[in-house]
Amino acid sequence: MAKRTEIAQIFKHPTLNETVTVMGWVRAFRNNRFIALNDGSTAGTLQVVADFDNLGEELLKKIGFHACISVTGTLVESQGAGQRFEVLADTIEVLGETNLEQYPLQPKRQTMEYLRQKAHFRMRTNTFSSVFRIRHGVAYAVHKYYNDRGFYYLHSPIITASDAEGAGEMFRVTTLDLEKLPRTEAGAIDFEQDFFERSTNLTVSGQLQGEIGALALGKVYTFGPTFRAENSNTPRHLAEFWMIEPEMAFYDIHDNMDLAEDFCKYLIQYILENYPEDLQFLDARLQEEEKNLPKEKRRAMGLLDQLRFVVDNDFQRITYTEAIEILQQSKPYKKKQFEFPVEWGRDLQAEHERYLVEKEFQKPVIVRNYPKDIKAFYMRMNDDQQTVAAMDVLFPGIGEVIGGSQREERLDVLVNRMEASGIHPEEMWWYLDLRKFGGAPHSGFGLGFERMVQFITGMGNIRDVIPFPRTPGNAEF
Ligand code: 4AD
Ligand code: MG
Repeated sequence: MAKRTEIAQIFKHPTLNETVTVMGWVRAFRNNRFIALNDGSTAGTLQVVADFDNLGEELLKKIGFHACISVTGTLVESQGAGQRFEVLADTIEVLGETNLEQYPLQPKRQTMEYLRQKAHFRMRTNTFSSVFRIRHGVAYAVHKYYNDRGFYYLHSPIITASDAEGAGEMFRVTTLDLEKLPRTEAGAIDFEQDFFERSTNLTVSGQLQGEIGALALGKVYTFGPTFRAENSNTPRHLAEFWMIEPEMAFYDIHDNMDLAEDFCKYLIQYILENYPEDLQFLDARLQEEEKNLPKEKRRAMGLLDQLRFVVDNDFQRITYTEAIEILQQSKPYKKKQFEFPVEWGRDLQAEHERYLVEKEFQKPVIVRNYPKDIKAFYMRMNDDQQTVAAMDVLFPGIGEVIGGSQREERLDVLVNRMEASGIHPEEMWWYLDLRKFGGAPHSGFGLGFERMVQFITGMGNIRDVIPFPRTPGNAEF
């Protein structure tokens, strides 16, 4: 191929009055003369000025929406408003035509639902290319954050025999012939004949293995796909999502909250600094979208203002018990506007979390010390014997982005909690061994990667921040 210059490079270091070759997709074409070309390297498009009287009528017909072309010409300062540079095309080669009558995308606004069905093309739109550039940026920032602070990246397994969350919403992994399942004498499925000689699943969390790492390497993090077969068709749930799980020896719940807050702010700050064009585009997109909404449904702040606000302000920290008291004093509670009951011992629902974050405090909130009965067995029992050292970080518009805790390091307390939760201690022998031999106080949390990307990009539905969403009934691409 001819030597190609990426458009991002041209914007950064323009070589004016020299010949360049650029390759990309036609975003817009007007007056049979001006082509807006995008190659994915940046949110911006490069204007190509083409004189089809010279280049030919045949070629003109092929310059359609999202056609792929290679342009060679002179890079000059633009005479027109709206762009700094343009390329005066000497030659244009069509690398891939599009037949607009058959092409699933059209040069107009299309709904997010429609674009989800065209996931093989949606990344070519302004919105999705910005979202996926930012998604990359957040992933990079995750690794940078932990590497710079002396954490080790631990690859936790994707296939596992343990259910970390005890929630039972797991996808089974098997090579057994489903038509002819082997049975034990008692009539149960005989998993000893399965590939791993036991029943296995896709992991719901890398935490338990993360704990193994923390009790040897001190500070580790996992960053991988996790799978939950929960049948929740909501804008915040995926069946396959990515989670970042740091796990630290010698951290208590307060150290854990400090890390969680600092980490969230770092990720947002990184994108503010490194992806300004994409953020500006998404900010404008959101403002446009909200014009049609009634005032009370609009966001209190624009996207960029909101991100800066989160970075610049301390998160509010409260206990679960305080949260219940605030909710019981709230207007929607008194006016019976909450759908779900608010009483000590019940889990907070999304509507309650949103009230705390969006109405009461108007900033991210960390709720800690939840009742033991609504949280996982591994969370450390508090001295009151009623609550555990759990923490959830709640964000505006998204709700829970982080769930974490100090872990129970006391063997006898842990075994009691397992038994009370219906978990057989002998099945988790290695997890208990970590408490028997060289155990230590330790803590960790899980950040839902897509929920953070959703917050940073302002996208309303989590399906629009993962390239190929997996949800009930959807696994096409
Ligand atoms: O609160 P969760 O279930 O916590 C754990 O799995 C712990 N083992 C983490 C730890 O302590 N190491 O999940 C953590 C986060 C949630 O706060 C949420 O952001 C995200 O994962 N999450 C989901 N994101 C998308 N789709 C789903 N179905 C999700 N379920 C949880
Ligand atoms: Mg949770």
